[in-house]
Amino acid sequence: METTEANERPKILGGCMKTRNVQALAADHNMLMADILERYIRPEMAVDDVLVENGSEEIPVIDMSRLMDEVSWEEEASKLKFACENWGFFQLVNHGVPEKVIEELKEDIMGFHDLPLEKREEVAQLPGDLEGYGQAFIASEEQKLDWADMLYLFTQPPHFRNYKHWPSQPPSFRDSLENYSNATQKVAHCILGFMATILGIKHETISEIHESQSVRINYYPPCANGHDKMIGLSPHSDGCGLTLLLQVNPVSGLQIRRNGKWLPIMPLPGALIVNIGDALEILTNGRYKSIEHRAVINAKEERISIAALHAPGFEKTVGPLAEIVGEGTPLFKSVTMLEYAKLFFSQKQLYGKKMVELLKLNP
Ligand code: OGA
Ligand code: NI
Repeated sequence: METTEANERPKILGGCMKTRNVQALAADHNMLMADILERYIRPEMAVDDVLVENGSEEIPVIDMSRLMDEVSWEEEASKLKFACENWGFFQLVNHGVPEKVIEELKEDIMGFHDLPLEKREEVAQLPGDLEGYGQAFIASEEQKLDWADMLYLFTQPPHFRNYKHWPSQPPSFRDSLENYSNATQKVAHCILGFMATILGIKHETISEIHESQSVRINYYPPCANGHDKMIGLSPHSDGCGLTLLLQVNPVSGLQIRRNGKWLPIMPLPGALIVNIGDALEILTNGRYKSIEHRAVINAKEERISIAALHAPGFEKTVGPLAEIVGEGTPLFKSVTMLEYAKLFFSQKQLYGKKMVELLKLNP
């Protein structure tokens, strides 16, 4: 097995073919020519685009302050159990991330995207690297592209941070992201701890192994003449264990796969959207399932989101937990997180529940 120096994050997680900056493309009317836009047009949108009827279903809402309260925690934990077993997605309110921390980060993310392209590109992805400002999972000149730009950064543990990819403008960006990262990691550990409780296993087995956090800041420009034929973020499930998503501005776009249709999700004010990723599906031997989701784009308004992705440390094992499998049969292979991450980032295209499929035993 490839080993990494202590205090160092593996550098072998691959890179991505360089593409146009979509924000710049969307802003330049001369560039919006049919042949350029063709790369972003998705024929499957026409056939795949069945929406759940508006208002017919809502994802569960979990109140973290009730989970933390010894009087109400059992009742709230049973809602959490239902949300994990039946939805894989829920809104988290009263999560304890201070409003100031959230507002400062939102301001700085918007400030970063207000900078001219040359300034934004100071943190551009370098060839063969995944971190920085660019895109992910592009391996050919022909494949269809998502209508979005991405800023991907390792945030936890702190010694994994590579500040050359962290914007230095706006000047408060790094502090804002660090504060947000610390606060969301605590929330993620807390939720994972409660999941362990309701699964009847030890906290440490699931919460404490999730040592790493990376963030994916998504910027979806509007597109008046193609929004209904393009995709902001292709259908996928998250490869990590647990994702906390913050919508930076109040424009809808997230949709989750529910009974074969797409259900639009609009975050409640102040809520974080939490979802189960492939690694947690594998660790729980399928008790909790990762759910496919996607982001669509808006005709007139930009949309910005930040996903905080929590995953096991690179030396940890991703595989069905013995405490959960018990006398039963493991449904997935076990690999180290390093092997898992390499496999994940070698995807040539983002689509579907990749890691769950790849690691399934007897598929
Ligand atoms: C993601 C993601 C959805 C959104 O970053 O993995 O699913 O609404 N984002 O931006
Ligand atoms: Ni996602």
